[in-house]
Amino acid sequence: MTAEEKTTLACFFDTVSAYLGSGYANSGADYAFKDDPEAVPESQMTEGQMPAGHQTAAPKAAGAEPEADAFSIPLAYLVPEAAEDDSPLKELEAEIRSCTACPLAKTRTKAVPGEGPASPLVMVIGEGPGGDEDIAGRPFVGRAGQLLDKMLASAGLYREKNCYIANVVKCRPPGNRDPMPEEIACCAPYLERQIALLKPLLILCAGRVAARHILRTEEGIGRLRGKIGEYPAAVEIVETGTLQSDSIPPIPVIPTFHPSALLRDESLKHPAFEDLKQLMAALAKLDKSYAAEVKPLLAKYAAKDPAFAEKVRALSR
Ligand code: URA
Ligand code: SF4
Repeated sequence: MTAEEKTTLACFFDTVSAYLGSGYANSGADYAFKDDPEAVPESQMTEGQMPAGHQTAAPKAAGAEPEADAFSIPLAYLVPEAAEDDSPLKELEAEIRSCTACPLAKTRTKAVPGEGPASPLVMVIGEGPGGDEDIAGRPFVGRAGQLLDKMLASAGLYREKNCYIANVVKCRPPGNRDPMPEEIACCAPYLERQIALLKPLLILCAGRVAARHILRTEEGIGRLRGKIGEYPAAVEIVETGTLQSDSIPPIPVIPTFHPSALLRDESLKHPAFEDLKQLMAALAKLDKSYAAEVKPLLAKYAAKDPAFAEKVRALSR
């Protein structure tokens, strides 16, 4: 770009900045831009001139320093932030981090609100933080968490992209004991608010504690898995007399084994994978772009499982 072109562009952005009152305005500044050097073919470039991503080593220090970019437009002008407003979720997470409403607050290191995008396809609900999570303040980061990440990836789900991960209780029960009913009851409103904000298309309950809590049942996980439940549980609608027309529509719930159970007992891996395939089929029905993204995975799993292949075929009908 020539110096003249740069100055014109800069003045244009000043005008827009001033108009938007964005604080980037630089009106009246004297620009002293230089013409860009003639383009050098990539094959003749020195390391310092290579475009980002092509450098094989850091630019050489003396003499070979690339000149600082004379004119860089604040990126915010060029790539507007996604319009999604995640501040209510961030505020809720901050509220949880400072909560002292139940005795678990006294023994925890950090509360673990949860993590993931504000509009996920799937919400995973575990039991409560373990030792690693208590230190990190993040859910499922220990050995069970690493397995959970692999399980989710096998279904095209990632906490960085389309999957929010949280727990029934947000603070670690000492010695990793089960959370007590009073602790669950005290913490439950946070989980309810998270679900209401996130509005996931599907909930995956990892383990007995989460499945029982979400489905309002005393059944064991072995009997609950393999069937799709619903949140809020029908029993709750009857109890409270509120049909959900004025709030969120019921969300399908897939209960499965907790990844720690899979680490203890290899034989649970097969049924857990069946649950993930069921999740994929259900989600593919609900979300067309997810269906398109995981098409190769669905085909791969269908090739080894005729019953699943039938389900996959039914998706396109
Ligand atoms: N187990 C859970 O249930 N949740 C975590 O966050 C980690 C381990
Ligand atoms: Fe608060 Fe829940 Fe932690 Fe208890 S477990 S202190 S209710 S965030």
